Amino acid sequence: MADPTSPILLFDSGVGGLTVYDALRAVLPDAPVIYAADLAGLPYGTKTETQIATRVAGLLGRMAERYQPRLACIACNTASTIALGMVRDVLEIPIVGTVPAIKPAASMTQTGTIGLVGTDATIRQRYVDDLEAQFASGKRLLRVAAPGLVAAAEAKLRGQPVDPALIADVHARLTAMVDGAPIDTLVLACTHFPLLADELAAAFGPQVRQIDGAQGIARRIAHLLEGQSFAAPHPNRFVVTGPVTGADGLESALAARGFGAAEAF
Ligand code: DGL
Repeated sequence: MADPTSPILLFDSGVGGLTVYDALRAVLPDAPVIYAADLAGLPYGTKTETQIATRVAGLLGRMAERYQPRLACIACNTASTIALGMVRDVLEIPIVGTVPAIKPAASMTQTGTIGLVGTDATIRQRYVDDLEAQFASGKRLLRVAAPGLVAAAEAKLRGQPVDPALIADVHARLTAMVDGAPIDTLVLACTHFPLLADELAAAFGPQVRQIDGAQGIARRIAHLLEGQSFAAPHPNRFVVTGPVTGADGLESALAARGFGAAEAF
């Protein structure tokens, strides 16, 4: 049985994993959480597979040693689709990954055309090809990379405006790929993107339903930790790689989620 003060470690390149944190809070309100943002490595989506795998496995190994979590969640599609297996090989605690919600999207679509927006690295992964083959073989899955949205989500959570041209560009590139029935389901295959749900909804219209994996991940974590007790040392901790000034501007977003001031890893 885990020590009641042992935290859940949530890991992402930046603030995207907070969308998973929000879903987790709804199902496990008392669990102590350490959120780790690899701001020194952000963004992951434009890096190579080797860079991402080495970085994520190395960092999670060191973080597991330092924080002794009972479970770690890679709250990042890019890192999960590339490094999940490797991280599971290295760590002895349960590791929950975040992978594109293709399965639920395939069961939701009425038109049979699904859009998927992720990072450059995620959309080219074999992992995504396999999910498509397994769950969406009778559908059309149109993938686009939107690296600009990662920076936009980071900026938005720091109180800065989102450039509508970025969202319009994603919409235009995806709809240009449609050949036949229109997209009615949009997979947000990057944990940063639900932070831009309103902007995406405005561009795609009410007929397009957005789906991401956050709730499913939260349920999975709750299931894996069923029966365990929690003694939360409030506030939860938000740690960053690189200088803590990388978290400047996030104060109110962190306070609203019960985190103290950002700390250096
Ligand atoms: N939040 C990450 C994801 O889910 C990626 C952001 C990045 O490019 O670092 O894919």
